[in-house]
Amino acid sequence: MKITLFNSKEKDIKKALEVVLLSKISDLKKEEQTFLKELNFSKENKSILLVEKNKYYILCDSLKQESVKITLCKVLRKLKSEGFKKLIFSLCTAKKELELSSLIEGLVLGNYSFTKYKSENKKTKMAIYIDIKNSKKDLITLEKERKETLIICKNMNFVRELNNTTAEDYAPITMSEDARKIAKEHDLGCKIYGEKDLEKMNMNVMLAVGRASRHESQLIHLHYVPKDKSLGKFVLVGKGLTYDCGGLSLKPTLGMLTMKRDKTGGITVLGILAALRELNYPYEVHGIIGAVENMIGGDAFKPGDVLYAKNKVSIEVRNTDAEGRLVLADCLCYAQDEIKDIDCLINIATLTGACKIALGVYTTGVMAHSSSLKNKMQKASNRSGELIGTLPFNTFLEKLINSGIADVSNAGSSPAGGAITAALFLDKFIKKRNKKKWLHLDMAGPAYSEVPWAYHSPGASGSGLRLLLNFIKHFNKQ
Ligand code: BES
Ligand code: ZN
Ligand code: ZN
Repeated sequence: MKITLFNSKEKDIKKALEVVLLSKISDLKKEEQTFLKELNFSKENKSILLVEKNKYYILCDSLKQESVKITLCKVLRKLKSEGFKKLIFSLCTAKKELELSSLIEGLVLGNYSFTKYKSENKKTKMAIYIDIKNSKKDLITLEKERKETLIICKNMNFVRELNNTTAEDYAPITMSEDARKIAKEHDLGCKIYGEKDLEKMNMNVMLAVGRASRHESQLIHLHYVPKDKSLGKFVLVGKGLTYDCGGLSLKPTLGMLTMKRDKTGGITVLGILAALRELNYPYEVHGIIGAVENMIGGDAFKPGDVLYAKNKVSIEVRNTDAEGRLVLADCLCYAQDEIKDIDCLINIATLTGACKIALGVYTTGVMAHSSSLKNKMQKASNRSGELIGTLPFNTFLEKLINSGIADVSNAGSSPAGGAITAALFLDKFIKKRNKKKWLHLDMAGPAYSEVPWAYHSPGASGSGLRLLLNFIKHFNKQ
């Protein structure tokens, strides 16, 4: 999809269908209103295509960011299916200047669908023209916004594509090969560790989770250093379970059906690191991914085992399906051993079904000791449109992960508060100096949906990337 800005004061785009976005019919000129009302255009009948006038009118529920994105996605899909390839939108409606980023996100993200495994795989090329007439912003500012939004959308679609790819086609080694390619393309530091290296580094918990898989576990470490002065240091740690069948605590068929999605956190970290150079963000960012497959077999780790993490904390495995926190435990230790003076440490994971129960499937769970970090994340949520909900820690829940024979248990003794007890488990692997710098994102819900929602087609949504890029971009400004 090609998106071009133009000013209709200066230039006329011929043979394109003009899409008129309205919040009320009364926003239109009197004679246009009368004409459309005669054609039954109303709140009940929200869209009308006038081929002879080369115009498509659509009534939005509101002209707020997310509403605009959802409407634009619907418009694009409809007009594309009717064979239109060239569309014009106006940035300024009768009363309001829309956010350019919302227009672009609605169109580019709404245009994505996963077709890799379909024999008929037709992609229509769309040309979009956005009329900036009457905008309060100048062309340079708008062009910058256009480019930035397109980079974010491109990487979000990249995250969706990899995440939708099946576990048979996407093993830990595939992820480390992708990391290498991304590093080369964007001039990033890149270290990849295989199982022999993990043994040397005492990352036995991560190794145990991947032991029954025929695919070698991989620890991926990407590093972005800005060309200009850095304003701070971020460390992002992603759960990259290319498949989670639950291990010996086996999931039921329906539960494991979409568990290719369990790599979302890791893929999101890949996507963010792929975007940073083009976005030219002035922060140093480390991306660490534990890429592992959780399978069954004679070699599998077992409920009842006691494992020692890299920081020597002992863990009683009470459920092999609570494997994400095990992989993250070793990765968090690695991150803090290797990287000094961290300003912000974030882990991102499809960690618990309990988080979906607590917040619903559209919302990412946020847990942290620092209110300031949680507030910053809320602001990033408001700006990006990605929903978050904070879940509070408390000392009573902490007791649920006590173990009789080890320092900590990997599964809470009650499922209630499961998203929080998972985070409290991770907290055992956060060094004192980093407690207030650490924030955990549980995106088990919004990572993936088998039915379409908002401007996401069925499958991976790409959620998390915009939220975190937004968080990083404004970190020092608030
Ligand atoms: N990968 C799952 C969490 C998940 C569930 C992600 C549904 C996306 C959708 C995770 O590894 C898991 O299975 N967690 C268990 C933990 C429990 C055994 C303590 C869960 O949530 O049931
Ligand atoms: Zn699991
Ligand atoms: Zn999992």
